Amino acid sequence: MRVIAIDGPAGVGKSTIARRLAERLGWAYLDSGALYRALTHAALQSEVALDDGAALAALARDLELSLEPQGVVRVDGLDVSAALRTPAVARGVSSVAAVPAVRAVMVVHQRRFAEGKTGVVAEGRDMGTVVFPDAVIKLFLDADPEERARRRLDQGQEVGPDADMGRVRADLEARDAQDRGRAVAPLAQAADAERLDTTQMTPDEVFEAVWMRVRSVIRP
Ligand code: CDP
Repeated sequence: MRVIAIDGPAGVGKSTIARRLAERLGWAYLDSGALYRALTHAALQSEVALDDGAALAALARDLELSLEPQGVVRVDGLDVSAALRTPAVARGVSSVAAVPAVRAVMVVHQRRFAEGKTGVVAEGRDMGTVVFPDAVIKLFLDADPEERARRRLDQGQEVGPDADMGRVRADLEARDAQDRGRAVAPLAQAADAERLDTTQMTPDEVFEAVWMRVRSVIRP
């Protein structure tokens, strides 16, 4: 099993690139953020407080979370994919993801997902640093906060009807600060990852740059 790890901050375009890359290679696509979002959604539904680490960890252990290779996420068998991009989930997910016992459960899920597959393109915050330290390629995608806010606003998802640039940018930056500042598996570039600043690049240009790199290592 070979892994390509793609990490980076919110709104940088990891999903677009990772999904396309997985498709081109015929590999599975692992959206690790979807697992944290699914748990956050479940916590909001069951009225578990998002600052109650012990209750969140218990919920993570009790729920049957599953990720399907095409990106569908199920909680206890129900497809929750459509509910993962609401503003409420976006606002709460970083507190949930900061709980060490929650991360321990998620790491098991993520490694199990990869087991037995030929190849996996895994995207998130700690794919290269913690979950798949032996990844054959590690990329850290970055872009200026203003540009990331613009991309998120263009996507229209998760920002809510009254969103403006200032608000979207503030939300992204708050989430990044929380993700970078947590004690366990913070958002960080792995020592052996390559950083790509995509601020001035179109999605096609990013994909081509990534694809050149992948071809030089993997020769599909
Ligand atoms: O798509 P976007 O970059 O906005 O977020 P995401 O990949 O869906 O991740 C949502 C949140 O989950 C992040 O802000 C992190 O708090 C958490 N996360 C994490 O802690 N570790 C990962 N490997 C992936 C996501």
